[in-house]
Amino acid sequence: MSKKVLITGGAGFIGSALSKHLQELGHEVFVQDDLSFGRRPLAGVPDARFFQADIRDRKATQAVFDATRPNWVLHLAAVHFIPYCNEHPVVAADININGTISVLDAAETKGSVEQVFVASTAAVYPIAEGAMPEDGALGPMDIYGTTKLATEKLASEFHLRTRIPTVVGRFFNAFGPNETNPHLFPTIQRQILDGARTLKLGNLDPKRDYIHTADMSRAMSALLNAGIPGYDTFNIGRGIEYSVREIVEAFERQLGEKLTIEVDPARVRKVERMHLLADVRKLKQATGWEPQWEIDEGVATLLKENVE
Ligand SMILES: NC(=O)c1ccc[n+]([C@@H]2O[C@H](COP(=O)([O-])OP(=O)(O)OC[C@H]3O[C@@H](n4cnc5c(N)ncnc54)[C@H](O)[C@@H]3O)[C@@H](O)[C@H]2O)c1
Repeated sequence: MSKKVLITGGAGFIGSALSKHLQELGHEVFVQDDLSFGRRPLAGVPDARFFQADIRDRKATQAVFDATRPNWVLHLAAVHFIPYCNEHPVVAADININGTISVLDAAETKGSVEQVFVASTAAVYPIAEGAMPEDGALGPMDIYGTTKLATEKLASEFHLRTRIPTVVGRFFNAFGPNETNPHLFPTIQRQILDGARTLKLGNLDPKRDYIHTADMSRAMSALLNAGIPGYDTFNIGRGIEYSVREIVEAFERQLGEKLTIEVDPARVRKVERMHLLADVRKLKQATGWEPQWEIDEGVATLLKENVE
């Protein structure tokens, strides 16, 4: 059944894929985004359904809920580029914590909301090897992960207070079109599309569980359609990890050319985890969801894309 859906952060990288996917499923999508990182066209909704407002502005956020009366709320707005969060810890905490309180308070008081989805991150897990299950130890190692763990606690407390079914999705590393932050994929993509065949990159060995934003979006809608009761947490990843070198090899295969890697000390992160892999059995069991996008397929589309 068609729902009225409010996406915070819907003009961003993952939010824009989600907006597209939910509209393809026939839902009426509204977006709240302050466009600090996102771009207006990415929201993919007409002006009447787009609200440029900071989630920390409680009055403005309440007004968005009054105007839209959403059935589903998917709260993705946050700052999350780790180097940015490290440099701006107060801003990161303000947006990710106070902003979340503002969105959840509006969801509580406006009476239309049937289900809430809150975006968290694999960064809430401690450094470890092997696939991370949802009920394993938690231990964020940076300010970003700490703010997101707080976001999860706020979501749990929101559910206890309101009884509105609330799902937290711990996103692993997203890849796909329109990435707004200089993570690995857009960094490689931009250099190649600019003509470089020697890539300047940071650490080459850390492995990550990369999942396409279209698959993430399908996982989020599957969780909401499944009507998960109460409060629950799900990893959203593919359950496969790739090193930086392996991602560069995928670009080489799609380009049909050899690439040379030059380690740029400025890009090497001081604190880096070597593994971050999702255990996705719980998501699959609850929803029947399976990822559809392979790395090479995603890379092929990135090489066709014009980078702004
Ligand atoms: N990209 C990833 O690999 C990844 C991994 C784990 C978790 N996440 C989480 O997924 C969510 C979406 O991330 P993304 O990669 O699409 O990032 P993004 O920066 O592209 O999207 C976030 C959006 O939120 C908006 N925003 C930021 N502060 C705001 C504020 N105060 N008020 C209103 N809007 C605001 C930005 O303009 C942007 O459009 C975030 O919650 C992030 O923490 C992302």
